[in-house]
Amino acid sequence: MNIRICGTGSAIPSKRVTNDDLSKIMDTSDEWISTRTGIRARHLAETETTTSLAVTASQRALENAGVQAEEIDLIIAATATSDYVVPTLSCEVQRELGASHAVAFDLGAACSGFLFALSTAQAYIASGMYKNALVIGAEVLSKLMDWSDRSTCVLFGDGAGAVVVKADENAAFESVQGSDGAKGMVLACKNRPVVNPYHDDQEAYSHLSMDGQEVFRFAVRTVPVAIRQVLDKAGIAEDEVKYFVLHQANLRIIEAVAKRLGVPMEKFPTNMQECGNVSAASVPILLDEINRKGMIQRGDRLVLAGFGAGLTWGAAVLNW
Ligand code: ACO
Repeated sequence: MNIRICGTGSAIPSKRVTNDDLSKIMDTSDEWISTRTGIRARHLAETETTTSLAVTASQRALENAGVQAEEIDLIIAATATSDYVVPTLSCEVQRELGASHAVAFDLGAACSGFLFALSTAQAYIASGMYKNALVIGAEVLSKLMDWSDRSTCVLFGDGAGAVVVKADENAAFESVQGSDGAKGMVLACKNRPVVNPYHDDQEAYSHLSMDGQEVFRFAVRTVPVAIRQVLDKAGIAEDEVKYFVLHQANLRIIEAVAKRLGVPMEKFPTNMQECGNVSAASVPILLDEINRKGMIQRGDRLVLAGFGAGLTWGAAVLNW
């Protein structure tokens, strides 16, 4: 038994911030950002929250799938930026949707989170435990940024994407995943400091820090290997794939991956130009975009891939 994606949805904040807008509040330029990353704008939360974005994306995915919230028996939300430490984002979404028959939990794997969540849903559904799952990637990364650090804050955006997956004996799904905790500090953000009656770390809240060149090297080396591995596992060739939907960190990373795989860039849809890097939300937001544009038909083969902090990476091949 495998999973089939039967509906997609997404939500991004209404506040659109261009590179030129940022250049008015920090020492940067559209030329610097767009030539190095492809990013031209991002949407940043004002009144929206991680929960509200995830709920809207999920409602749109359910509607697109023609599935009622009560039919969902599993909700997995991939996020590093939930509104509460507890309750989890997935439980917040469950309440707002009225998905009263679902078990709900969050999963943390940074920019690979959506891929890991999808594979987790596949494993549960293949085991026979659940039949209909809602898989979400949602982030408000703007709250983790040091807005005085121009080398990181210009890269990220806020948003959410969701898919509804169903058990389908005719569906095809294969995935590979990997982690390298030894390189964890190249992309890091510390949680709260320890402050209790016996100890006080005296630390300020931490922001996201990144060794950009190390992350670039990691992505360009690891992602093509993971994609080849998952295609081998599924027994299909690169040219049988309609689209490669990759985590939208950086256009230059995607171009390098395409070149290493020998696949033309036309097969790599992108939206980091408008959304920036939305971490766990980037793959499902892009998937929703190409679905709603009518770019994918039932039966098309897709490769999805995520990579990021941890370090972590994951790739999946599926039939639409
Ligand atoms: N505007 C203008 N100048 C800047 C900015 C900015 N926003 N940010 C940094 N600079 C300056 C630096 O201060 C430095 O100046 P200096 O030479 O006078 O010291 C210069 O630009 C070059 O900085 P580098 O960090 O060496 O820039 P680099 O060419 O490596 O590009 C980048 C940085 C775009 C982040 C690149 O390393 C990259 O693409 N890395 C991939 C990482 C990535 O995409 N991360 C996303 C999150 S991780 C993930 O999702 C997987």
